[in-house]
Amino acid sequence: MRCTTLYASLVTSLVALSEAFSHRSTCTKFNFQHALPKEATVLSTAFVEAGGSYGEGAPDIAYPSNSTYLPELCAVIVNVTTSAISSYRFGLFLPSQWNDRFLAVGNGGFAGGINWLSMGNGVTYGHAVVSTDTGHNSTSLDVSWALDNEEKRKDFGFRAIHGSVVLGKALTEAFYLRDIQYSYYTGSSTGGRQGLKEVQLHADSFDGVLIGAPAWWTSHQQPWTSKVATYNLPVSSPNHIPSDLFAVIANQVVKHCDILDGVVDGIVSSPSECNLESLELACDTETANASACLTAPQLQTLQEIYANYTVDGQLIFPGMELGSEATWSMLLSGDAPSGLGDGYIQNFVLNDPDWTWEQYNDSIVSLAEKIDPGECTAWDYSSLDKFRDRGGKLFLFHGLADGGIVPRSSGVFYERTLALLGGLDAVRDWFRLFYIPGMEHVGDTPVGAPWFISGGSQASRLGSNAWAGRNRLEDPQHDALLALMDWVENGMVIKQVIATTWTNSTDPTSGVLRQRPLCPYPEKQVYIGGNEKVPESWKCV
Ligand SMILES: *[C@@H]1O[C@H](CO)[C@@H](O)[C@H](O)[C@H]1NC(C)=O
Ligand SMILES: *[C@@H]1O[C@H](CO)[C@@H](O)[C@H](O)[C@H]1NC(C)=O
Ligand SMILES: *[C@@H]1O[C@H](CO)[C@@H](O)[C@H](O)[C@H]1NC(C)=O
Ligand SMILES: *[C@@H]1O[C@H](CO)[C@@H](O)[C@H](O)[C@H]1NC(C)=O
Ligand SMILES: *[C@@H]1O[C@H](CO)[C@@H](O)[C@H](O)[C@H]1NC(C)=O
Ligand SMILES: *[C@@H]1O[C@H](CO)[C@@H](O)[C@H](O)[C@H]1NC(C)=O
Ligand SMILES: *[C@@H]1O[C@H](CO)[C@@H](O)[C@H](O)[C@H]1NC(C)=O
Repeated sequence: MRCTTLYASLVTSLVALSEAFSHRSTCTKFNFQHALPKEATVLSTAFVEAGGSYGEGAPDIAYPSNSTYLPELCAVIVNVTTSAISSYRFGLFLPSQWNDRFLAVGNGGFAGGINWLSMGNGVTYGHAVVSTDTGHNSTSLDVSWALDNEEKRKDFGFRAIHGSVVLGKALTEAFYLRDIQYSYYTGSSTGGRQGLKEVQLHADSFDGVLIGAPAWWTSHQQPWTSKVATYNLPVSSPNHIPSDLFAVIANQVVKHCDILDGVVDGIVSSPSECNLESLELACDTETANASACLTAPQLQTLQEIYANYTVDGQLIFPGMELGSEATWSMLLSGDAPSGLGDGYIQNFVLNDPDWTWEQYNDSIVSLAEKIDPGECTAWDYSSLDKFRDRGGKLFLFHGLADGGIVPRSSGVFYERTLALLGGLDAVRDWFRLFYIPGMEHVGDTPVGAPWFISGGSQASRLGSNAWAGRNRLEDPQHDALLALMDWVENGMVIKQVIATTWTNSTDPTSGVLRQRPLCPYPEKQVYIGGNEKVPESWKCV
């Protein structure tokens, strides 16, 4: 008996050894080029030893950090021509110990670069992982590459991610000489938009998609990004709220709204029940300390920031959420709106780099909606029926303290899908929305709130501790990607996922501070007694 076991394990090791040897020897440009169409060229291949690192370093200006602590893998970079004036690249990680699954990861902002860090997190699950540079080379806030170039915009909008998935799958199967059993997607922000767009256009690309804080409503969100900033400009105006006051507003919101969820923990979990009028922010005398209160014109600005952006009674974009103030610097500080807004209007919509925010008017939204440059906007809600019919599962999450993309924009996406595809009871079977109280844009928290569920780009927030941290939480109860896989492959419906934060919110080695279940909308986390820091003290109701 023992002898047989020994023999079996010896055979297993020999097979593993010879596979590793063959993976090393087949990780060549020549081998991959055979599996590609003529518009695609293999630029490089590299065999990475277990524990090694890989990336492009500083020349990848969007994602300069190399992935570290990698399992043994073959790394490939491919260049694909999409038109006479456009092309994109993609990177592929093929681990020697492959689990027969494929994963595509998304990007962020307008960043043009292969997302090596997210690939590194993905490959530690055993998946083959692909990421595209989206067809240009830039940092997140630089949109100048899109000027007068609809081909490049289309690569960014939908073409680069789709091509990378199709070709990445072909290379994966050619490398292992086996079929892919399941395919997944994970991405947040722009990555969330890319995933939703891909699923809307190509229902058969993925079996499960994990979407965080998606920038799905491009033609409305990007103009709003400029619009909301104009309320707080120019800096010389009496209306202007300096960013130092954001913390003062945040403290007032916590003081009045934290308790509404029943537990005083500094985390505003029910912002919709919170009343702006209850905040004590007004400077009551002429000589009041201007660093601790808001003047009447500043209070007017505050109202505008929280208000929905509407034109002729139609919702253009929801307003900032109460409880997001600590993260407002992203869009509301500085002497001009973020490049995410102005850059889009200049280079996508108007083809006018000289346009400035002082010229903003509401017709920009209707123009953006009409031409939808690059076909970026992921608003074909009803097309998700094909994904559903193939058995696809969708996990959407959004931080309630997100000051970059307001959480209610995910609510709008969900409500519109419900309205078109049979209502909550029908849609819950394959599509669930999880709000994360106290979480900023994509990840991290200013208020000690549990936020980490290994969603798209979250591990990147943990620096080089990412993998050490993830390993300790590597089960479907704490890891949304594993939960999604369990839903797709074993029919285990996701009833909750436990989010985690640490004493230092981005350093897992500092020790767990809090864990709490996240609940599928419209359920909420309800405190049932005991230590508020442990998940057993809460349940989804
Ligand atoms: C990143 O990885 C690439 C390829 O492995 C290597 O050439 C480069 O030096 C690395 N950069 C850094 C900063 O480690
Ligand atoms: C992207 O631009 C940077 C800086 O301009 C350059 O160093 C780098 O080589 C470029 N990367 C690619 C892939 O073209
Ligand atoms: C990718 O291909 C395009 C032609 O379609 C070419 O202009 C570009 O230089 C290539 N990129 C790299 C990094 O080789
Ligand atoms: C004014 O308010 C700020 C912020 O609360 C505080 O740091 C500062 O000490 C106050 N100054 C005075 C003179 O009270
Ligand atoms: C609104 O802005 C656009 C773009 O700058 C401009 O063409 C248009 O004339 C403006 N409309 C009004 C009513 O000012
Ligand atoms: C703002 O828009 C949201 C939709 O995201 C809607 O539910 C809410 O009622 C609107 N608020 C107001 C005050 O109209
Ligand atoms: C928290 O951890 C991060 C690493 O993710 C580190 O860069 C930062 O300095 C730490 N903050 C504090 C206050 O120690």
